[in-house]
Amino acid sequence: MKLSWSDVTPQWMYLNRRAFMAGSAAALALGGQAQAQALTARPSPLSTDEAPNSFEEITNYNNFYEFGTGKDDPARNAAALTTDPWSVEITGLVERPGRYGVEDLAPENALEERIYRLRCVEAWLMVVPWIGVPLASVLNRAGLRPSAKYVEFETLLRPEEMPGQRRPILDWPYREGLRIDEAMHPLTILATGLYGQAMPNQNGAPIRLVVPWKYGFKSIKSIVRINLREDQPMNTWQQMQPGEYGFYANVNPQVDHPRWSQATHRRIGAGLFAGREPTLMFNGYADQVASLYAGMDLRVNY
Ligand code: MTE
Repeated sequence: MKLSWSDVTPQWMYLNRRAFMAGSAAALALGGQAQAQALTARPSPLSTDEAPNSFEEITNYNNFYEFGTGKDDPARNAAALTTDPWSVEITGLVERPGRYGVEDLAPENALEERIYRLRCVEAWLMVVPWIGVPLASVLNRAGLRPSAKYVEFETLLRPEEMPGQRRPILDWPYREGLRIDEAMHPLTILATGLYGQAMPNQNGAPIRLVVPWKYGFKSIKSIVRINLREDQPMNTWQQMQPGEYGFYANVNPQVDHPRWSQATHRRIGAGLFAGREPTLMFNGYADQVASLYAGMDLRVNY
């Protein structure tokens, strides 16, 4: 018996490829976005075995304030963003600073699929089949200087294409940061796609950070600058509301947000009667990352 593509490929990927090949009608079915480039990635033992959310859920329930504050604003408005050409500037305490293309940072032959839980600080959760490369691979190639203790990230500033940036909702451009050991951790990736295709604009095309044990706001989208520095950078949400959002933002059921509990969350797509699920320490990644915070008071360093 001859195996067909659909016999050897997971169903969701087969459906996506078929949609990709079927062209614009299918692209419309995939959430109204432009036809996306298919990406091949090898599976990773770091993936969760939980079932991913649907492509529709992942691309229509978003936080990307550059395109508006409503959950469906990014899906509606992000198509206008020009993502090609794109370059990421690596600056600061590295041996080889410069501008790098997305393909340089995440070459196709290095791509891995990482199916991760994404827990937003707003107390909802999704499971996303990201495609990307370890951030460590990028930082190692840039060459970290010993004095580099923190990494700072910046999103594109382009109010012409990002309607949210025309209003002072946040102090644009969106910024985030990690401690160097967090940045070098094998779970931390730069993602350039999901569900077997190039990153949809509303999810942070063409390249974004994913740090699965931290609240989603740490996973900054549409990155244009990676800066290595000695002192701890200020992230956008900490700057906006320092009493509510900190630098670490590790998922923690024991440390509540001042305005709501973090003990439980709602799983997107679980249905009206599914009930809330308990939040897991470090979003379920405690075995891999708890040692990074040994001896730290996580109530103080929230
Ligand atoms: N990055 C930028 N530049 N702007 C944003 O508004 N929102 C963050 C994060 N990255 C945000 C961002 C928040 S709060 C979350 S929960 C995740 O992106 C959501 O990612 P998703 O839309 O791909 O699920």
